[in-house]
Amino acid sequence: MALEVAQLGQPILRQVTRKVGPEEIQAEEFQAFLDQMRETMRAEGGVGLAAPQVFDDRRVFLAAILPPARRGEPPEVECFINPRLSDLSEEKKKAWEGCLSFLELLVLVPRHARLRVDYLDRTGTPRALELAGFPARVIQHENDHLDGILTIDRAESTRDIIKASEYEDVFGDKSKDDRDGDPDADD
Ligand code: NI
Repeated sequence: MALEVAQLGQPILRQVTRKVGPEEIQAEEFQAFLDQMRETMRAEGGVGLAAPQVFDDRRVFLAAILPPARRGEPPEVECFINPRLSDLSEEKKKAWEGCLSFLELLVLVPRHARLRVDYLDRTGTPRALELAGFPARVIQHENDHLDGILTIDRAESTRDIIKASEYEDVFGDKSKDDRDGDPDADD
């Protein structure tokens, strides 16, 4: 069952989430919740989804950023429980980001080009990934959701916020080279 996605203005999107206890991870309720998040993400066509976006205050997000098992297939979805970012590169890059909580807007957001993320997967196993480019961007976007931070807070100027419907009209094909700037990649 897909869950309702909280839209901009809902207070839950501004709350700081709480850590998931190790004993909670194996619980049937939590595992079912992760499945529902996954289904919601697929139904909405997002590359990431954080718990507050489905009215939940736990520190977890999903992101479709793992290399696919077979070539040509879409990226695998990973669960990031209690994630912690480190080794953030000094270098930052700007790209347009969408968000399932306000599909109407695109925001030009500067993000660290590279980072490391430590987290627990859905079995509770500690894992770490070193990421760059688009996957690193998605992780920063979703991790922000866990702290009540949205892309509009990260814009360097209010001029870096546009209506998604105008993207093609304004930028045409110019941005097609920039994979990070893919406005279809909502998270
Ligand atoms: Ni988002």
